[in-house]
Amino acid sequence: MTTKRIAACVGGGVIGGGWIARFLLHGWDVNVFDPAADAQRKIGEVLDNARASLPELSDVGMPAEGTLTFCDTMAEAVANAEWIQESVPERLDIKHKVMADIQAACPTDAIVASSTSGFKPSELQQGSSRVQQMMVAHPFNPVYLLPLVELVPSEATDPALVEKAKQILTSVGMKPLHVRKEIDAHIADRLLEAVWREGLWLINDGIATTEEIDDAIRFGFGLRWAQMGLFETYRVAGGEAGMAHFIAQFGPCLEWPWTKLMDVPELTDELVQTIADQSDAQSGMHSIRELERIRDTNLIGIMRAQKQTNWGVGELLNDHDERLKQLG
Ligand SMILES: NC(=O)c1ccc[n+]([C@@H]2O[C@H](COP(=O)([O-])OP(=O)(O)OC[C@H]3O[C@@H](n4cnc5c(N)ncnc54)[C@H](O)[C@@H]3O)[C@@H](O)[C@H]2O)c1
Repeated sequence: MTTKRIAACVGGGVIGGGWIARFLLHGWDVNVFDPAADAQRKIGEVLDNARASLPELSDVGMPAEGTLTFCDTMAEAVANAEWIQESVPERLDIKHKVMADIQAACPTDAIVASSTSGFKPSELQQGSSRVQQMMVAHPFNPVYLLPLVELVPSEATDPALVEKAKQILTSVGMKPLHVRKEIDAHIADRLLEAVWREGLWLINDGIATTEEIDDAIRFGFGLRWAQMGLFETYRVAGGEAGMAHFIAQFGPCLEWPWTKLMDVPELTDELVQTIADQSDAQSGMHSIRELERIRDTNLIGIMRAQKQTNWGVGELLNDHDERLKQLG
């Protein structure tokens, strides 16, 4: 008989809910601590979405679901957990308090990971006497479908626990990307913020609407990014002469005024209202839950297409199927 593995999810909002689903649907028992009155309802809705979508990625069937337990206290949630995932609001004072409460009650050899989008692990570790078990595990929404997790240790994190974290994340179908040097906002959010900032400028300057910007992404380079990313795409764009030729051709543009660089548009009430109105006109006919289901169905199609070419995320899904086959 194999012992059940226990994950504790502290904070069960958009991201915590996704983590709960990711672990639960891979057979882990999951303890949840979230004091919000509507936490159970919201988590239930995320789980409905996950149950309808995650199994669609697999050709071999998923393990039996684990047991979900809502706990009244932090101590109850984390006491026997092997993996503890903190997903509370992105404020350092809240994170410090929650981390202290977690570490007062959790096993000393548990992995204590934070979903933080921006804080460095060394910032989260301030004031802790057991820094060695703390790291960042930054996922992407929806956590139950998107495999990427940026795994960011600080110099004080135990390297053996980082290796263990990689194995656990892989076993639940994820792609741990070890960020070797901690930096504000890790890797992906730095890239995303550059694109987002330019998008805000294009609206601020009356060049494009939210819908036109989204079309510029989803009918073109977004599709390329989904399977080759940035640098491999540009390698191909360089033709037979390759990467060096591509840089020779487009490198000088970097010094032309193609972007606003680090300038940030002021988020005036007027700009925020313009964006909200345009977004309502673009997508207001769908509820958020409908949009989530449309998103999930599209993601499954895009990801499954790459299973056939055993490329990128498709290779990861095929490897995961093999692992699940051996387990089951
Ligand atoms: N939303 C995203 O796309 C995204 C993506 C990756 C990472 N993150 C990160 O994940 C974390 C959570 O973000 P979110 O978008 O899920 O926020 P959210 O507001 O949806 O959820 C936060 C949850 O934490 C709960 N909470 C508040 N105080 C708590 C406490 N003391 N103990 C336990 N639970 C508590 C709240 O009730 C809420 O359910 C942040 O650090 C954020 O940067 C967010």
